[in-house]
Amino acid sequence: MAMTDMTSCPVHQSFDPLAEPYLADPYPDLTAVREEVPAFYAPSIDMWVITRYDDIESAFKDPGTFSAAVGQRPVFPLSDEARAIIAGGFHASPVMSDCDPPKHTRIRRHNLKGFSARRVSVLEPKVWAKATELVDDIRPGRVDLVPALTYPLPAYMIFTFIGFPDEDMDMLKSWCGNRIAFSWGRPSPEEQREIATNMVHYWRYCEEFVAKRAADPVDDFTSDLIRIHREDPEAISLEEITNVAYGLSFAGHETTTNFTGNAIRQLLSHREQWDALCADRTLVPAAVEETLRYDSSIIAWRRITTRPVTVGGVEIPADAKILLLLGAANRDPKYFSAPEDYDIMRGDVRAHLAFGKGIHYCIGAALARMEARIALDLLAQRAPGMRLVEDQELTFPANVSFRGPRHLLVDWP
Ligand code: HEM
Repeated sequence: MAMTDMTSCPVHQSFDPLAEPYLADPYPDLTAVREEVPAFYAPSIDMWVITRYDDIESAFKDPGTFSAAVGQRPVFPLSDEARAIIAGGFHASPVMSDCDPPKHTRIRRHNLKGFSARRVSVLEPKVWAKATELVDDIRPGRVDLVPALTYPLPAYMIFTFIGFPDEDMDMLKSWCGNRIAFSWGRPSPEEQREIATNMVHYWRYCEEFVAKRAADPVDDFTSDLIRIHREDPEAISLEEITNVAYGLSFAGHETTTNFTGNAIRQLLSHREQWDALCADRTLVPAAVEETLRYDSSIIAWRRITTRPVTVGGVEIPADAKILLLLGAANRDPKYFSAPEDYDIMRGDVRAHLAFGKGIHYCIGAALARMEARIALDLLAQRAPGMRLVEDQELTFPANVSFRGPRHLLVDWP
């Protein structure tokens, strides 16, 4: 890749995470930039990009220098119209992924209680039941596994986890649309209008839902937070609980849809590994882990510097928007042998950074792993003979962070 000014601040004119070839397969570029330089400025997105495992891990572990505050902010400026729609009815404020200590510490602590092993484990039979119901509906022939399984399963599970009623699911899903593009992509003004309008609907729904649970708590995650609030209103406010419900319904959904799609794709593309997994389903957790390393659904994450900092000899100023290339770190040969090989039997997989590290480590990691594991296990039982449709052209949502196939066609036996 073309690089200029190799001294204090290398600049990559050609690095563009929204360009078609990168969206189709970012890994050649991720490998090239990691080998070339530990950090550089990318004019295409006005961000400083960090490429190597050690530096990315250090950034995760230094929230004082690498603030999370920029986590959800649109990468590109919004249209006036979209800003007006947001200002009129969307009042989200930072609570977790885009929040720094001390507020982050307080809110995350209470969320961790809600994400207790008990609450996640009681979901397991529900995930099995929902996945089974979805797979039961698949008929032999050509099937798109995204609408058939990988989209509805995590949607249903995260909505159920939060406590949203079943009858609202279709409405909620209709508001999800292309919301990744809003903060991480470059949507057109028309798309911005539509996404912003849906975000307002969604936000109002969350406000009303939390008010309802506050009046009458039941046995769900939101009610767990309400009980904490009732005991000590300073611990977490109703507005903060609304933000958590809103944020989780996003964080727990497309991430896992995309991830499960990536896992199915990789396994079916490495047929001998799929066959081995079908013959011995105890290999499923290893396949989940290797996909997290090799083809995760979040290939880059954001921070903003609070002070000037030097990364691998490259000077980065204060207030610099940062892109941490998780996809490059997860194939860094310093930590993974034969990193470009997909190998569910590898021994060094656990070092991956797919869920981040440190104070913002993904709170839904156990749930995401469980959903993917159950989906793969069920597919291996029901359709060991399924095949990826060879000549399909996979497309991926245009954004800097989230990656997974929009459609995934298989021939179902
Ligand atoms: C395979 C699927 C998933 C992947 C790859 C993933 C990855 C990540 C990453 C990279 C972060 C940022 C860590 C950081 O900033 O240091 C994160 C944070 C987060 N994730 Fe996930 N995630 C997944 C699924 C989920 C699910 C299912 C949920 C909810 C049920 C969830 C909820 C969250 C939340 C709330 C945060 C912010 C935590 C904090 O800031 O303290 N994620 N995730």
